[in-house]
Amino acid sequence: MICVGIESTAHTFGVGVVKGQKVLANEFDSYLSKEGIIPVEAAKHHRAVCRAVFSAAMDRAKIGLADVDLIAFSAGPGLPPCLLVGMNFARSLKKPIVGVNHCVAHIEIGKKMTAAADPLAVYVSGGNTQITALVEKRYRVFGETLDIGIGNAFDKFARNIGLRNGADIEKLARQGKKYIELPYTVKGMDLAFSGLVTAASKKKDEKVDLAFSFQETAFSMLTEVTERALAHAEKKEVLLVGGVAANKRLQKMMKIMCAGRGAKFHVPKKEYCGDNGAMIAMLGALAKKGMGEIKPRWRTDEVEVIW
Ligand code: FE2
Repeated sequence: MICVGIESTAHTFGVGVVKGQKVLANEFDSYLSKEGIIPVEAAKHHRAVCRAVFSAAMDRAKIGLADVDLIAFSAGPGLPPCLLVGMNFARSLKKPIVGVNHCVAHIEIGKKMTAAADPLAVYVSGGNTQITALVEKRYRVFGETLDIGIGNAFDKFARNIGLRNGADIEKLARQGKKYIELPYTVKGMDLAFSGLVTAASKKKDEKVDLAFSFQETAFSMLTEVTERALAHAEKKEVLLVGGVAANKRLQKMMKIMCAGRGAKFHVPKKEYCGDNGAMIAMLGALAKKGMGEIKPRWRTDEVEVIW
């Protein structure tokens, strides 16, 4: 079976093609802005590039629309104007369509690409921060952010101190040496990042030290909750997914924590960490059925794992 996946929850418009569970193509085009994501502008971007990205994916996979059996699209969670572009584009292709959950797609492609069998999945991105594990046919949420996603926190703080985005924080943090005390907010198994962003943005210390301290604090919070969830869920593997999973410092901290607990650590290659169409195609091919509409607030733990 050949399944095409369409991703359009936030910045990225992506089209992936899978045959069975093999990725044949994974093309994308991302909306970039200096002041953070403006949903209607992102949607405008997606509408402008959707045909070209789709054609590029068909060419890369060396197939035509006639070869496609199923079209999967990201039904949520995500920004409504962006989700609508993906759904409408999927419908315009006049094939059987299936709306799938974006968070679950990240986890499933992560498992596939790393051969993680039954991990505790840590999904960290701009809009999402969730620690989940499969228990009785659902990815149960063991811990999550109470305010903004960790990637959004990095982006906000970066802009507040005159940098472009969260990736710049990672680069700058490598030169930092002095740890500056910042708010560390863990509530039970949940996390909050807004206070950290506000406090760090007000400090007048060297940018390298602020970037270093911000990153250490945010990732320590996340690693602490992950460690407790690992014990609680009685899992032996950790799978890191989402755009922020590409951060090398986070990978290292998780690796150290896992080694201490005798757990295996997995992270897919960068192409499959961030939002991509291949993960939507892969989940579509697994689930075969799903939503016919968008569901902007669709939670990970609402999806029954029937595959
Ligand atoms: Fe995502």
